[in-house]
Amino acid sequence: MKNFWTQLKKPIITTTPMAGITDTAWRQICKMWGADVVHTEFVSADALYYDSKKTLKMLEYQAMEQPVVVQIFGRRPELYTKAAQVIAKTGVAGIDINFGCPAKKVAGHGGGICLLRNIDTVKKIIETTIEAVDIPVSVKTRIGLNKIQGQPEEGRITVLDFIEAIKEYPIAAMIVHGRTYEVPFTGPVDLDALKEARDKFKKYFKDGIYIINGSFQTVESVIDDMKYTQADGIALSRAIYGRPWLFKQIKDYLATGTYQEITWEQTKDTVIKHAHLLWESKGTAGFKEMRKHLLFYVKGRPDAAKLRKELVSVEHPKDVEKIFTRL
Ligand SMILES: Cc1cc2nc3c(=O)[nH]c(=O)nc-3n(C[C@H](O)[C@H](O)[C@H](O)COP(=O)(O)O)c2cc1C
Repeated sequence: MKNFWTQLKKPIITTTPMAGITDTAWRQICKMWGADVVHTEFVSADALYYDSKKTLKMLEYQAMEQPVVVQIFGRRPELYTKAAQVIAKTGVAGIDINFGCPAKKVAGHGGGICLLRNIDTVKKIIETTIEAVDIPVSVKTRIGLNKIQGQPEEGRITVLDFIEAIKEYPIAAMIVHGRTYEVPFTGPVDLDALKEARDKFKKYFKDGIYIINGSFQTVESVIDDMKYTQADGIALSRAIYGRPWLFKQIKDYLATGTYQEITWEQTKDTVIKHAHLLWESKGTAGFKEMRKHLLFYVKGRPDAAKLRKELVSVEHPKDVEKIFTRL
């Protein structure tokens, strides 16, 4: 098996999978700005099993994005053989399994982070996926969960229990989001828990790649957090909203001890390129998604509020060009 993870130069700076964000256009933009690996939005194992056209479309990518990792979610191990094989057939570099999603529609049905409650199912999912394909399989989870909303059962489960349970499987990489299920997206991450998980992961997975995630806002803090946790890399999520050049800045800083601020010209070029890529991949129906990205790109500009109305009305890359060439 070709394991691209072990070929990458450390530290590895990657995107996380993000529903509604990490589509092919955004991944291409991240790649252009230096992402080492890009992740797709999560795709449902059930939907792949039942040949959902919409979900199959989510697997499309461009060669320049490689290595691309497709993230899969679902709580039924029996669907993973076919789902993983459908993914592998597309030629992507890897598959990631979601054991961290707190969203009601996933965790509420026992999927995502709540699968940690059901470690036998976790094992079956991992085993089935690894057996089905010849590409590296990674996992993404959180530092833990304390209880499941709406269910009587209570008790604490941590990423350490998770690592212990899966230690027999050849996991290529693991991304750990440093927050629990109970504080899904707010507040600081628990760096000590991330470091502890790193130590345990490395004990069992000698060649495994350990990547931290969560709340990383600046070039400097990203580097400090990687150093503190001794992670092999970092996965960026909301920190790169509207500033995909963070990948380059982090790398420049690591290589030279300094980095450049991005000029408005560079921002404009990126925005316009992004708009065209989104148009090419999703056409009229999907182009409305550009609007949220535009708001991220202008964040911090004094005229951001004034521009809002115009930005949330764009229908075509030409509209984006018209606004941004004026600015
Ligand atoms: C809009 C949105 C969509 C997300 N979708 C996914 C997903 O599909 N799969 C996944 O593993 N995590 C998903 N996440 C979680 C992120 O990958 C990441 O773990 C989380 O945002 C913490 O990182 P941050 O604090 O740097 O943003 C999503 C988060 C957000 C905000």
